[in-house]
Amino acid sequence: MTQKHNRVVAIYPGSFDPITNGHLDVIERGSRLFDRLIVSVLQNEAKAPLFSVEERVEMLRETARIFPSVEVDCFQGLLADYALGRNASVILRGIRAISDYENELQMALMNRRLQPGLETVFLLAGETFSFISSRLVKEVIGLGGNISGLVPPLVEQRLHERLRRPAAMTK
Ligand code: PNS
Repeated sequence: MTQKHNRVVAIYPGSFDPITNGHLDVIERGSRLFDRLIVSVLQNEAKAPLFSVEERVEMLRETARIFPSVEVDCFQGLLADYALGRNASVILRGIRAISDYENELQMALMNRRLQPGLETVFLLAGETFSFISSRLVKEVIGLGGNISGLVPPLVEQRLHERLRRPAAMTK
């Protein structure tokens, strides 16, 4: 008897402004769980991102190219509609701390209501990454702090270029 294996496509959605090593950890572990993992950047200019969608997609592609089953994309509108259009049955999200849980729970239940059958799978962030967020990384580097080891080297370079403070004016 032959066994039929249904390919499981998962979507890992987010702002990724920019990708951190915490995101990368979720991508790596997710790539081992699903047949295909689509990392997708939300197009939402209302959040006043530091990097454009194109820049974020490019950094993700460059960083995730070592994982053959991972694809990088972007989307707008409802995540549940996008998942349907991409034949995905799973939404992948990372949880760092209990403070993430409430918002994630609301999103997961809303997405399931909008698209019954769409399951959200949570991965607990590795303990080395549980304090990292894109917001904090930007704040620290903007104030002159060291962020090495928190983001991929390419992203660290881009952050330095983007947030380099102008040289002090001299008379
Ligand atoms: O990285 P973030 O900012 O925590 O990601 C949030 C994201 C992109 C997953 C969430 O804002 C989202 O899915 N937005 C799409 C709009 C949508 O579907 N909203 C209703 C259901 S939650």
